[in-house]
Amino acid sequence: MKNLVVYFSLEGNTKLIAEIIAKELNADIMELRTKKEFPKKGLKKYFWASKSVIFRENPILINKYIDLNQYDNIFLGSPIWVGTYASPFNTFIRDYKIYNRNIGLFACSGGGSTKKCFDEFKKMLKWNNFVGEIEFVGPLKVDKEKNIKSIKQWIKGLNI
Ligand SMILES: Cc1cc2nc3c(=O)[nH]c(=O)nc-3n(C[C@H](O)[C@H](O)[C@H](O)COP(=O)(O)O)c2cc1C
Repeated sequence: MKNLVVYFSLEGNTKLIAEIIAKELNADIMELRTKKEFPKKGLKKYFWASKSVIFRENPILINKYIDLNQYDNIFLGSPIWVGTYASPFNTFIRDYKIYNRNIGLFACSGGGSTKKCFDEFKKMLKWNNFVGEIEFVGPLKVDKEKNIKSIKQWIKGLNI
């Protein structure tokens, strides 16, 4: 079984979780990188990222193309932006035609709901088999050991 973790992270939280999942599963990892970087600080951070979600923008990705068909299980991880996934995933979903894969979802929030984010992923990628989802609240600030433990437990419970 070949595994891939695809994630976007502005401030490092989703990156932290993505790296733990990749390590646990011996997975390849792909960080979505946009041509124009989103500001990481202050009001600009909220303005540009929110605008990008609200207007359903497709920020240009500069990642090297990879063939997703070689992976059995694909894990997608995003921060919650305005209630849903970060806009770089709009581009990813548009550009990579993903069918018949097992997909696990993870998201990092500031404490709000991740339901809409997971529902939208499932709607946009409906020709796949969703195996599980897990959420974290600002994991950079909490105990890393606790996160590793919950990820291990989650992975164990997945039907993959
Ligand atoms: C533009 C923007 C919008 C956000 N909207 C939400 C939200 O709707 N609900 C929420 O719980 N957190 C929201 N957050 C907080 C992030 O989801 C949270 O800080 C997350 O851990 C960041 O992940 P990252 O470090 O991987 O970028 C928002 C953050 C940004 C920058």
